[in-house]
Amino acid sequence: MFKLRYYPDPVLRRKAHEVKDFDSSNLEFILENMRRVFIEHDAIGLAAPQVGLLKRIFLIRLNDKLEEYINPVIIETSGKALNEEGCLSFPGLYFKIERARKVTISAYKVDGRRVERKFEGLMARVVQHEVDHLDGVLYIDYLTPEERLKVDLLLIGALEEV
Ligand code: CO
Repeated sequence: MFKLRYYPDPVLRRKAHEVKDFDSSNLEFILENMRRVFIEHDAIGLAAPQVGLLKRIFLIRLNDKLEEYINPVIIETSGKALNEEGCLSFPGLYFKIERARKVTISAYKVDGRRVERKFEGLMARVVQHEVDHLDGVLYIDYLTPEERLKVDLLLIGALEEV
């Protein structure tokens, strides 16, 4: 039912809404469909707006297991790391982007339980990227003006590669 949305789909720029009803079967339905898209695209992270759904939910793959985080909030960050980053909504586009090296989030699981989780390295990067998606923020927003211009030209077919 849900399909992966690609930039410049306007839904990727909208702010997602908090999940308020944890008892609803809608939530399990949403997660089912997100898992399907996640697996189909061999993702490492996927945020609900990327399947056209404005809910504050993301999935990540951690040690080969899919984990869901609902209404996530970054409560602590430390350090800095510069590394390559991509996004399913921008196939084949990778850029070096600076992110915090460690991050702690507070979020809810599907059963309504509140959890705190710490991530570092690649997964800290993925979590920051996915939380950004929930606010309509995309990784290209962190590029230099020159890199950003190249992306825009590429996307209108005026450039062959970045
Ligand atoms: Co992304």
